[in-house]
Amino acid sequence: MTEVARLLRADLQGRTPYGAPQLDVAVRLNTNENPHPPSPELVAELSAAVGEAARAMNRYPDRDAVELRIDLAAYLTRTTGHPLDVEQVWAANGSNEILQQLLQAFGGNGRTALGFDPTYSMHRLISEGTATRWLPMERLAGFRLEPEQASLVVREHAPDVVFLCSPNNPTGTALDLDVIEAVYDAARGLVVVDEAYAEFSSRPSAIGLLPGRERLVVTRTMSKAFAFAAARLGYLAADPAIVQALQLVRLPYHLSVLTQAAARAALARADELLGSVAAVVEQRDRLLREIRALDLEAIDSDANFVLFGEFGDQAATWQALLDRGVLVRDVGLPGWLRVTAGTEEETGAFLDALRDGMGEVSP
Ligand SMILES: Cc1ncc(COP(=O)(O)O)c(C=O)c1O
Repeated sequence: MTEVARLLRADLQGRTPYGAPQLDVAVRLNTNENPHPPSPELVAELSAAVGEAARAMNRYPDRDAVELRIDLAAYLTRTTGHPLDVEQVWAANGSNEILQQLLQAFGGNGRTALGFDPTYSMHRLISEGTATRWLPMERLAGFRLEPEQASLVVREHAPDVVFLCSPNNPTGTALDLDVIEAVYDAARGLVVVDEAYAEFSSRPSAIGLLPGRERLVVTRTMSKAFAFAAARLGYLAADPAIVQALQLVRLPYHLSVLTQAAARAALARADELLGSVAAVVEQRDRLLREIRALDLEAIDSDANFVLFGEFGDQAATWQALLDRGVLVRDVGLPGWLRVTAGTEEETGAFLDALRDGMGEVSP
């Protein structure tokens, strides 16, 4: 054992880090990004906003990111129809940092977090990183959750934090609000609904359930529908007491003045940025149709990706696609792969590679 390995926390020994491959491939459909880059006009506006903010670079940024949170609250109010104000919204560097702050405050040593596999791998990794014991639970056939089954599991294990993900990564399946209500009633701890892909779904947001539920948290991101992944901006909506609690664990000045300025400029053009959502949804529905036409299974998706299979050896199919210049995601779910909806051309390239590659690897 090396000196460093000896010093590492025992519960982290032998763990593997998050590692979606960042390969230089023509068609990258493996991390659920939005394939549409910002328009030249938007790039000019972001640059101007960031340039203006840079004039105050000698000072620390607004620690509470108040102006940005006002804009985020207005965006959520406008798009969900449920009024929110600044005290109910918190922002950080990606929703991953939001999830980490939640676990720092409400999880930790001697505490547990429960999620329904397969789900977003970072729920487990951030739990483990904060020494929160991860409790992996199963889903019903078709990767579904039902109110009775999910609430039974939550009541039995009584975790400190429950993760629900809707639409769920990697399955694309969305939850009916009655599942969230039932889980909340059964839980004694925090219930976090990860809505990273909400804008791609026509279902109601869990934000409508917030009034009267002070243990409920809804997390969102600008990485997906907003096509803003590189800027790193995630946020949550919850009871003001939750936002207050997070002040105990957040690092001071965690959101740079550049990030705050860029995010505000992007929110001011939200309609333009979200304009690509319809095109992405069209390609997602095309993926569902055309994958099924190949006699494969594709799980109904409310997100910007599709889980498809079943393959005898999904790793071989992943490699066959990569050999044809298309990178998809092997999420470690035997038999299944996940593909992100790309531009029309990228989606076409994936479907061509799949048709071609299937001759090589039989399902
Ligand atoms: C379900 C889910 N939540 C959160 C995230 C993280 O997003 P962010 O870029 O805001 O950290 C992702 C990213 O893939 C995701 O799939």
